[in-house]
Amino acid sequence: MIEQQIKSAIRDIPDFPKPGIIFKDITPILKDPGLCGDIVDAFVREVKGIRIDAVAGVESRGFLFGLNLAQKLGVPFVPVRKAGKLPHTVKQKVYELEYGTATIELHTDAFKAGDHILIHDDLLATGGTVAATSELIQEMGGKVAGFTFVVGLGFLNGHERIEPINNKVIVLAK
Ligand code: PRP
Ligand code: MG
Repeated sequence: MIEQQIKSAIRDIPDFPKPGIIFKDITPILKDPGLCGDIVDAFVREVKGIRIDAVAGVESRGFLFGLNLAQKLGVPFVPVRKAGKLPHTVKQKVYELEYGTATIELHTDAFKAGDHILIHDDLLATGGTVAATSELIQEMGGKVAGFTFVVGLGFLNGHERIEPINNKVIVLAK
């Protein structure tokens, strides 16, 4: 099944990018076109029946499957980018990291008020990135349709953090 295929493909890199962190390297998945297609198909199955007007993918690894997912769903893809990358007028959100802050941005014309936006990222860790993305989308008048992730690090409890925003949280490999 897909969960096992994802888990076998992911490579654990100890002490990257800092000592004590085990990095989940998804690049081996990207070398397997069949598995990439199956991942997108699994997301499409899981979100069947919910209203989705656009998919928002979080820079940078959220772009990898986010665009394909949007195309399969037949809806626009909107990039959520790190500060200073989007060229048109933007709205931004500053959020807390373990040390310091990070900033994400969306184009102000990324979607219309009232649109239902599915948030996609490759990995759910603490949930801080997608929680900030949700707040930004809501401040712009959008509704969060749900969340999709290829991988989740359960021990960091990201699930509990984002479920109150929308309990449609799809994690293919937990
Ligand atoms: C990683 C990952 C998620 C986020 C998850 O991105 O791709 O976006 O961290 O962490 P969180 O749930 O604790 O917020 P990273 O910032 O490493 O950047 P990248 O996608 O550009 O590699
Ligand atoms: Mg990322």
